[in-house]
Amino acid sequence: MHIVLYGATSAIAHEIAKSYAKEKCHSFILVGRNEQRLQSCKLELIALGAVTVTTVTMDVTNSDSILNTTKNIIETSKSIDIAILAHGSLSNQDLASIDMNYLQSEFTINAVSFLLISQLIVNHFTLIGKGILIGLSSVAGERGRKGNYAYGSAKSAVTTFLSGLRHRNTNKDIHIMTIKPGFVSTPMTAHLPQSQISDSIPYPSIISVGV
Ligand SMILES: NC(=O)c1ccc[n+]([C@@H]2O[C@H](COP(=O)([O-])OP(=O)(O)OC[C@H]3O[C@@H](n4cnc5c(N)ncnc54)[C@H](OP(=O)(O)O)[C@@H]3O)[C@@H](O)[C@H]2O)c1
Repeated sequence: MHIVLYGATSAIAHEIAKSYAKEKCHSFILVGRNEQRLQSCKLELIALGAVTVTTVTMDVTNSDSILNTTKNIIETSKSIDIAILAHGSLSNQDLASIDMNYLQSEFTINAVSFLLISQLIVNHFTLIGKGILIGLSSVAGERGRKGNYAYGSAKSAVTTFLSGLRHRNTNKDIHIMTIKPGFVSTPMTAHLPQSQISDSIPYPSIISVGV
């Protein structure tokens, strides 16, 4: 299968990719902003059994880059079987409350980019008649919290958008999965003290919806 991972250097995405690589029958396109980190993910996936691994650099704060890069990926790969969207930034709520450029940039990373990529990929699935899209949302999107509503509102948008895509593709061979993790110990959360984690993340479980 052809698997595309956005945010391929994310700890969660890389673990998913490793599981697929061990099946020794999949080709990967790894999308991220840091070529050096993409290369180290690539080496590990090849060592585990990936058939081919291509890397693509893209910064998800730039809408033009998102559209052009994703269209190029679709054109060159011809047929994507699975797309996984896992990039994200745990926004600094205090900074987002006073710096509107930062607030806008964070919302672009966590919401707008997800929406654009998801829609382009699902349009491709519609043309080829099948596909699986897996999006990393969060329980933080379930309700606004004083400590993380910049991040949470973006994840709400992701959850609602993917839910709509799922509804629109009911009864087709197009499957949309929303993963809503609670706290996962990754580089994204490494700076958080335990008390802050329990205040900002309402539910500690992993919820998967659809497929
Ligand atoms: N960890 C948790 O507790 C938790 C809980 C709920 C949901 N999630 C979600 O799960 C997903 C994966 O998170 P994680 O915990 O694995 O985080 P992570 O290891 O910190 O990975 C974050 C990823 O986002 C990428 N990224 C950030 N800003 C970017 C930008 N401007 N352009 C392109 N890529 C950018 C990072 O790229 P670089 O490698 O270049 O920095 C990295 O690949 C995210 O969507 C996150 O919101 C995580």
